[in-house]
Amino acid sequence: MNQDEIIKMTEDYVKKELEKESSGHDWWHTDRVRNMAKSIAKKEGGNLFIIELASLLHDIGDWKLVVGDESVGPNMAKGWLKKLKVKNNIIDEVSDIIANVSFKGANYKNKMKTIEGKIVQDADRLDAIGAIGIARVFAFRGHHGGQMHDPDIKPKVNKTVEEYKRMDNTAINHFYEKLLLLKDRMNTETAKKIAEERHEFMEEFLKEFFKEWKVK
Ligand code: ADP
Ligand code: NI
Repeated sequence: MNQDEIIKMTEDYVKKELEKESSGHDWWHTDRVRNMAKSIAKKEGGNLFIIELASLLHDIGDWKLVVGDESVGPNMAKGWLKKLKVKNNIIDEVSDIIANVSFKGANYKNKMKTIEGKIVQDADRLDAIGAIGIARVFAFRGHHGGQMHDPDIKPKVNKTVEEYKRMDNTAINHFYEKLLLLKDRMNTETAKKIAEERHEFMEEFLKEFFKEWKVK
């Protein structure tokens, strides 16, 4: 099987797996991450085959969706790529990226090492901010239950990894606990520039949100 065929088969597999996902991690999120990662790679370099495979597989079996087990995602990706007889070193690189891609609170130290991983992580994080990022937070909260906003509950930026993983925040507090932190955590210069604009849009949204909330 050549690389294009492997990508196409992987795309079909992921589409099927994520078809019914409704917490903001649906197939179109994956597709946007893949397109963004490829676009960033044009400027930043990196092995495109690894970047595309890791982008496509990054949310398969995510720990937030599969009862908190972080090894499920990377293992599912490994199993799939083995079936397609992808070379072992590529499989290792891809599953390593998937294992390290996720944001786990402001205190968690990023362990992404390779340029391919940094690009996929940036692309995933860019999809968490801006207009689409805003839409996804509320989709996530709707899916998992919980509140849109409660003025009596203040955000807690310095959550421990364990606290962050409880995911018991309001949608609005998630902006302060994650989304507004992302622009300063981009790995590549290309992503930093895109993040600035999306960040401003979120600031604008929050300003308007609180303005409307306050009307007496
Ligand atoms: P990462 O790509 O860092 O793993 P996640 O999968 O945690 O990102 O989150 C993707 C998106 O899902 C977030 O950007 C947000 O929109 C939503 N989300 C994740 N966790 C929460 C949460 N605790 N509260 C509200 N939204 C969340
Ligand atoms: Ni993702």
